[in-house]
Parts: sequence; structure tokens; C-alpha cells
Amino acid sequence: MPLSAPRIFDQQHYALLNQARGDAAARLLHELKDALHLRTAVDLGCGLGHFSGLLQSLGFEVTGVDGRRENVEEAARRNSTVSFRTANVEDPGVRSLGTFDLTFCFGLLYHLENPLLAIRHLRALTESLLLAESVVCQGDEPTMVLVDEAVEDDQGLEHMAFYPTEACLIKMFYRAGFTHVYRFAEQPGHSDYAATGETRRVRTMLAASLQPMDSKLLVLANDRREDMQPWNARYDVSRETAGEKLKSFAQKPLPEKFRSIKRIIGTR
Ligand SMILES: C[S@@+](CC[C@H](N)C(=O)[O-])C[C@H]1O[C@@H](n2cnc3c(N)ncnc32)[C@H](O)[C@@H]1O
Repeated sequence: MPLSAPRIFDQQHYALLNQARGDAAARLLHELKDALHLRTAVDLGCGLGHFSGLLQSLGFEVTGVDGRRENVEEAARRNSTVSFRTANVEDPGVRSLGTFDLTFCFGLLYHLENPLLAIRHLRALTESLLLAESVVCQGDEPTMVLVDEAVEDDQGLEHMAFYPTEACLIKMFYRAGFTHVYRFAEQPGHSDYAATGETRRVRTMLAASLQPMDSKLLVLANDRREDMQPWNARYDVSRETAGEKLKSFAQKPLPEKFRSIKRIIGTR
């Protein structure tokens, strides 16, 4: 329960999203924590510390980090046994926090001006595993869209951010030095993670590691080398060939394949 006045993070839509994301993360961490000897965790963009508290309850020694001092102060009030720090993940100074077995980064990567730079910092902080969750734009290409954000405590520090596609996140994780990047075989049970006939899929959860991981909960995402160039006809995604469409379909995890087929044949 919040100890002080309700904040933007206390809205009902956060509660539903947090439940779904927390369940998916806990399921995976139950499986991997001992197998990968995960003991310490950093929760980046921790907001009021909801996931810092969850990680602590799963047995991690947690450091919560947020770019807003007022969020960190409230996070510390709500999670009195977790250690919290104020730091900007785009600033190289964040590396001085040290290294952690698990880097946990939910709801942050799409709030940044310099996401690839920040992901390089995340790589430097990570000893073993990164769990990341983000809003994503539509499309199979590794692209980003520059968005003006609202001036709120749960948004980017500069009110302007690059929103990536999932393909772009995967590529950035590989280029920053993670050796294996995985999609979740089953995404969190919330409508934001599933396209339907009427709605788009707007979020994803990914795992990036420094060793191969053998889990039925994860599906390896390929490190695609792009030949995409502005002067290349392929840059125009509306001209995607049947072969390219088939390739993107083949790379989707099984539940997403079923959803796509249902969409094509018009059932839900
Ligand atoms: C959408 S909230 C996510 C909170 C929580 N992790 C979750 O998933 O519910 C984004 C949080 O990231 C913080 N943030 C935004 N830009 C940041 C930056 N450059 N460095 C550190 N934290 C940042 C915001 O202050 C906010 O608390």
C-alpha cells in the first residue's frame, strides 16, 4: 500500500500492467535465478520501486535507480529495506554503480533521447542477464520514432524520446555486446502485448544475456544483419516482398504465429 498521497504510478492501469509484467518476470526468474547464480539486481527507471520490491521478495539484493530524485525518495519510503540511488541511465556516470547479476529495466527504454548509449551502459552494469520491457512501435525494421512526451513523473527526463520497434531493441542489445537475445515464448497476459483485430501490440518483454539460456519460456531472437539503406527499395516497408513477410512470420514465437493466422482468417 502507498504510504503517501497517490502518484501517477498508483493509477489502475499501472496495477493491471504491473501484475501481468510481474507474473511473467517472476516465472522466468524462478527458473533462472539459481541456474545462473543470480544474487544482485539493479532496477533501472524504478519509479516508486514496485519492481524493486518484487525483486527483493524473489530473494535478490536490490538497488533501485531512477533519474528523478522525488521518485527515489518516495520509492525509499515505500520499500524501506531496498537501497535506492538517483542516476540518469544516459549518463556514463551510471556505470559507477558497479555490476549486477541481473539488470532489470522495465518501462524505461522508450523514454530516452539516446537509447543505444543507455543500452551500452546497461551492458556495462550487467554480469549475466538483462530483463527489459518496453513500449514498441509497429514494424519489423530496426527503426525508432522521435516522440514528444508528456511532462509527468513517469516519463522521460527531457520530454522527448525515441520509441523503438522490437527489432530495433533486439539489434541494439546485440550491438551493445549481449551475446544472446530472447523473446518471451508467451508475452505477459495483458492486452498491450497482443495484437487483436482492433488493437495493436504496443509493448514487449525481452531477455538479453551473456550466455546461452535453455528455457522453454524463451525463444532466441536472431541477430539480423541489416542491408537496409535509404536508397534501397527494401527501405519502403510497404514494398515488403512475400519472401520477407514469410521470414518475419517464421521468426515469431508460436503463440504470436497462431494470433497472426487467426487474424488473417478473421477469427479472434
Ligand atoms: C514509465 S516509468 C517506469 C516505472 C517502472 N519501472 C515500471 O515499469 O512501472 C519510467 C521511469 O523512468 C524514469 N526515467 C526516465 N528517464 C530516465 C533516465 N534517463 N534515467 C533514469 N530514469 C529515468 C522516470 O523518472 C520514471 O520513474
